[in-house]
Amino acid sequence: MCGIVGYTGPRDCLPILIGGLERLEYRGYDSAGVAVVTGDSPDDYSLEIRKEEGKLQGLKDLVEAQPVSGTFGIAHTRWATHGAPNQINAHPHTDETDHIALVHNGIIENCDALREMLKTKGHTFHTETDTEVLCHLVGEYWDGSLEKAVAAALRIVEGAYGIAVISDLDPGKIVGARKGSPLVVGVGDGEYFVASDVAAILSHTNQVIYLADEEMVVVTRRGFRTQTLNEIPIAKDVEEITWELSQAEKGGYEHFMLKEIFEQPRCIQNAIRGRLEDDGWRAHIGGLNISDEELARVERVVFLACGTSWHAAMIGEYMIEEYCRLPVEVEYASEFRYRDPVIDGKTLVLVISQSGETADTLAAMREAQRRGAMALGICNVVGSTIAREADGGMYIHAGPEIGVASTKAFTSQVATLAVLTLHLARIHGLSDEPARSLIHGLRRIPDQMEAILADASHCRVVAEKYAHHANCLYLGRGYNFPVALEGALKLKEISYVHAEGYPAAEMKHGPIALIDENMPVVFICTKDRAYDKIKSNMAEVKARSGRIIAVATEGDTHVEGIADDVFYIPQTIDALVPLLSVLPLQLYSYYVAVLRGCNVDQPRNLAKSVTVE
Ligand code: M6R
Repeated sequence: MCGIVGYTGPRDCLPILIGGLERLEYRGYDSAGVAVVTGDSPDDYSLEIRKEEGKLQGLKDLVEAQPVSGTFGIAHTRWATHGAPNQINAHPHTDETDHIALVHNGIIENCDALREMLKTKGHTFHTETDTEVLCHLVGEYWDGSLEKAVAAALRIVEGAYGIAVISDLDPGKIVGARKGSPLVVGVGDGEYFVASDVAAILSHTNQVIYLADEEMVVVTRRGFRTQTLNEIPIAKDVEEITWELSQAEKGGYEHFMLKEIFEQPRCIQNAIRGRLEDDGWRAHIGGLNISDEELARVERVVFLACGTSWHAAMIGEYMIEEYCRLPVEVEYASEFRYRDPVIDGKTLVLVISQSGETADTLAAMREAQRRGAMALGICNVVGSTIAREADGGMYIHAGPEIGVASTKAFTSQVATLAVLTLHLARIHGLSDEPARSLIHGLRRIPDQMEAILADASHCRVVAEKYAHHANCLYLGRGYNFPVALEGALKLKEISYVHAEGYPAAEMKHGPIALIDENMPVVFICTKDRAYDKIKSNMAEVKARSGRIIAVATEGDTHVEGIADDVFYIPQTIDALVPLLSVLPLQLYSYYVAVLRGCNVDQPRNLAKSVTVE
């Protein structure tokens, strides 16, 4: 949700900033811009802005036609909140004097009041954005020191921000700050960076510091210092990023989404590696930060998540109920945070987020912690805010997920939840046999996934048959109900086909009215405990001339007799079926989107990391 990158050092900053934006474009892609201070001496320093509507390529073309060169600058790729996604509203924005430039990720909630206040002081605004207001506010407090002006402005700002600010009156310096939106500082050799995400700077340094909320950083080419908004210095540890830049590249695939779908067998291996004990049929989880005794006292589990992570949480709910015999609730983080939820010390809160930065999920977790719950984070992005603020947790180890549509993070979340379920279940009395079969089942998943992926071309053939349809219904039962929701979400977000997921038996309470020969219905109909029931639901659709695409278990010839098209998956235990049944649905969505000419990795109106409410 907007990407920020900044550089100060001996090199020309423009290629570094543009290269950083290329890595951040997944965060927002409706406009992009750079601010660079040109000139060699105080007499001829000049703040130059280049910005363009649309994808990053527009900005690249612009800077080629109108180059800028300097040794420090900031850049931004936007996902619009205040104001249309056009050139004028694109970042960076400047203050009243045009000497300060600012890029921002987040929302300034009191911007209307601040704008009115600034107007009374003679400020004129040219855009509809909250960011321009913030930049003018910094200018209003300018007294010769950029960090003092930024700190003064942020002390009266309400809302969320990750920002980077420069001025040609305070050369060589970048001031960064965050509250609710991520900001990392890259520590190079005689050069420094700020960015929303390490991917933007990893080709230059793997040494970073993470800012916490309401912290600021001042970087020059000589070093950096961190402080609070009240200008109290704070010490920060430099951390090393261990993943490789190649993991955030397409590696020969046409899209990140396709690459990430194909990475899933390896991701599952990474999610379970070192966490399963074959001798005692137990899970071994480092870093959970909650003792067996504390877990034994847990009487209830609450999941908090959004989107695809919420679907993974639903699967976690079914697993924990089945194996741990504990009551579980799955909450939309956005709803939970504004309710009056009943949480106590015996409630274990599990917070699932790929990015670890989703604003609603983070706020819901803080609310649960405020009410006395212990919150465990299940995150992908190492060092993300949820990962750091949770009381403990597990990384899913999926590696960077760049495609806006979540694929490998979903299956890695489910695999990680299976490990966590096993751990909790053994503490709550699960016997050896189901524990052994869960472990065996998990170990087989990567090979079984490979077998499904080897038949990806069949998913394309089926997609060709249905890509022109404007609607699609996804139905599943039991563990496959969340998979139906996830399949529908994948299709709608990348292909703009209207798709809905339902528990299959709910169909006759309303959605059945939609069924005719123009309505493809995807049934996830694997050989599990819901199999006989869902076969009846398929017959009901067939009787009304619906077109059926089924996900079925290998060797199930009965389904072939009812469905128009079938994706086969290998047999596994019920709890692990989603790890396999979702794969053909991911591929089907991908191919439908490609056939409809959609931008798979950057679907319209979306952004990878939703750091605003
Ligand atoms: O980073 P998170 O897991 O917290 O993100 C939650 C959702 O925004 C995310 O899963 C979203 O629904 C994806 N676009 C789904 O593909």
